[in-house]
Amino acid sequence: MLTSLKEILNDCELHGYAVGSFNTPTLETLRAVIHAAESFRVPVVLNHAENEEAVVPIEVIAPLMTEYAKNAKVPVAVHIDHGETFPYLMKAIHLGFTSIMYDCSGLSYKENAERVKRFVELVHPLGISVEAELGAMPNNMAGCVNGQEKSDLDNLEQYFTAPSEAAAFAGVTGVDALAISFGTVHGRYEKEPRLDVERVKKIKGMMPKGTHLVMHGGSGTGREQTKAAIKAGIRKINYFTAMDTAPAPVIYETIKRAEGEPVHYGRLAKLAMEVMEEKVREAMELFLNADSG
Ligand code: 13P
Repeated sequence: MLTSLKEILNDCELHGYAVGSFNTPTLETLRAVIHAAESFRVPVVLNHAENEEAVVPIEVIAPLMTEYAKNAKVPVAVHIDHGETFPYLMKAIHLGFTSIMYDCSGLSYKENAERVKRFVELVHPLGISVEAELGAMPNNMAGCVNGQEKSDLDNLEQYFTAPSEAAAFAGVTGVDALAISFGTVHGRYEKEPRLDVERVKKIKGMMPKGTHLVMHGGSGTGREQTKAAIKAGIRKINYFTAMDTAPAPVIYETIKRAEGEPVHYGRLAKLAMEVMEEKVREAMELFLNADSG
């Protein structure tokens, strides 16, 4: 059933888990994510990032995302990931998205807070949930979509969220979800990730009741650190690279084994879906069971 992100996050808070938030730019990803969520009987968030327009336009993918969400046996929020352009976000709402990340993290604190506050005032009455970002998410996803630039990954602390700013930002804007930076990276990690979990705990302790914390860059973060982040208060985890890169080696082997004989694309698409579902299941199991040994 199509649900607001806010409702899902409240359930996460109540039961101490994190909801998986997966980008679904293809039918195979979409089906893999929905199927995994239904088999685990857990809520899920379907993301479409504004910069994924290069992969699939929102007008094409939104009707599929919302239809799958409505028909799902579990609560599903349909969410814009890293939305930056106001008219684009209005279009997303018109197309049935129940949740928007309005990412003004590239602007000054003041400008970010002012824009997000105005946006919340505008869309909350429509029942739309809002996520913002404070601090910045470093990026190592070059080659995923056009125009993505790699960040300087040598010193991740330069991107970290300041706890006092996070508290003030949440209080002023009234956001439902706040993405914070504490050591994760979008895309591939080049060295062992080291999350500043103490920072998460501190920020969590300063949040107003209605604002929940989000971790981006969920791929490759490692089981123990992911569990620690959830225990410290993370309630939504964005996860994409590990799922989206998993099919390629399997497809490669399949084509190689065919030894020049034709390989039907439909078979490869199905295979990709199965491999991605397995990855999503792995992630969901982890996000649900932060307390288990
Ligand atoms: P990963 O691709 O690193 O899992 O991050 C996804 C993400 O944070 C999307 O916003």
